[in-house]
Amino acid sequence: MNDETYMIETRDLTKIYGNGAEVRALDGVSICIRRGEFLTVMGPSGSGKSTLLNMLGALDRPTSGQVFINGQDMARVKDLDTFRAESVGFVFQIYNLIPTLNAKENVEVPMMGQVRSRRQRMRRAKELLGLVGLEARMDHLPGQLSGGQRQRVAIARALANQPAIILADEPTGNLDSESGEGVIRLLRELNRELEATIIIVTHDPAVARQTQRVLVMHDGKISDDHTVGHPFEEDLKEFRNSGLGAALRQGDAAALQWIKERELKSLRHVVSEI
Ligand SMILES: Nc1ncnc2c1ncn2[C@@H]1O[C@H](COP(=O)(O)OP(=O)(O)OP(=O)(O)O)[C@@H](O)[C@H]1O
Ligand SMILES: [Mg+2]
Repeated sequence: MNDETYMIETRDLTKIYGNGAEVRALDGVSICIRRGEFLTVMGPSGSGKSTLLNMLGALDRPTSGQVFINGQDMARVKDLDTFRAESVGFVFQIYNLIPTLNAKENVEVPMMGQVRSRRQRMRRAKELLGLVGLEARMDHLPGQLSGGQRQRVAIARALANQPAIILADEPTGNLDSESGEGVIRLLRELNRELEATIIIVTHDPAVARQTQRVLVMHDGKISDDHTVGHPFEEDLKEFRNSGLGAALRQGDAAALQWIKERELKSLRHVVSEI
C-alpha cells in the first residue's frame, strides 16, 4: 500500500509558545497515522501531548511544519472551524459539557451548524446516546450524571458529525478505574465498528496496553513509537477493511459476488490484490 494517504501526517511540526521566555512545546514532530488506527500518546507532564493533540485537531496553528489530514494541508484550509466540526471529535478530561443543557441537548450542539432540522438533530442525538448506553439518561443535566456517564455524553457529542478522527485528551483522568475501563472499551468499539481513527492521551499504562500503538513524548519530541498490537491483528484489520472483507461480513454470497464481479480466479489472487 505505497500510495496510501495517511489519515494524519505531520512533517517537522513545531510549536513555540510565548515571546520572551519561549517554550518549545513541540520540536520537529513527524508522524504518520493510518485510517482506523487506535493509539495512545504518553509522556511526562509538559512534554507536549496536549499541544500535539491540538495541532492534530486543527484547534491551533503550528509555529512551523505541516499537518495533513486525509491528505489536506491544514495551512491551506481557510475555514478551520467548519473543517474541525465535520472531521474531528474531541473528548476532554473535564468533559466540557454545558451544565444548563441536558444530555440530549449537549449532543445536539455540534450539529447545529451542520444539521438544520431540529428533529433530525434530536433523532441523531438519541441514537448516539443509545450507542453509549445512556438511553435512560437523555433528559438528565450533566450535574445529575456520574463522571463516567458524563464522559459517555461527551463521547456521543464527539461523534455527532460522524468524524473520521476522535481525539481524546486524558478521557479517563477524572474517572475511577471501572468507569475509565468502560470509556476505553467504548472507544475501542467505536474504533472497530465505525473505523474511526482514535488518538488517546493518557498517563495510564493500562489504557495504553489496550491500544495498538503507543507514541511516547519527551520535551516536545517523539522519543518512542511502537506498535503493541499483534502483527496479525493489523493484517486482519486491513483485510476486514478491504472490499472483500466488507463483503465477507455480509455473508458468503456477497463475497462470492464480490469475487465474481472482479473476475478473479482464486482467493489467492484476491488476497494479493488487497
Ligand atoms: N498556551 C500556552 N502558552 C504558553 N505555554 C504553553 C501553553 N500551552 C502549553 N504550554 C507549555 O508547553 C509545554 C507543553 O504543554 P502541554 O500542555 O502540551 O503538555 P502535556 O504533555 O499535555 O502535559 P500534561 O500531561 O501536564 O497535560 C509545557 O511546558 C507548557 O507549559
Ligand atoms: Mg495535557
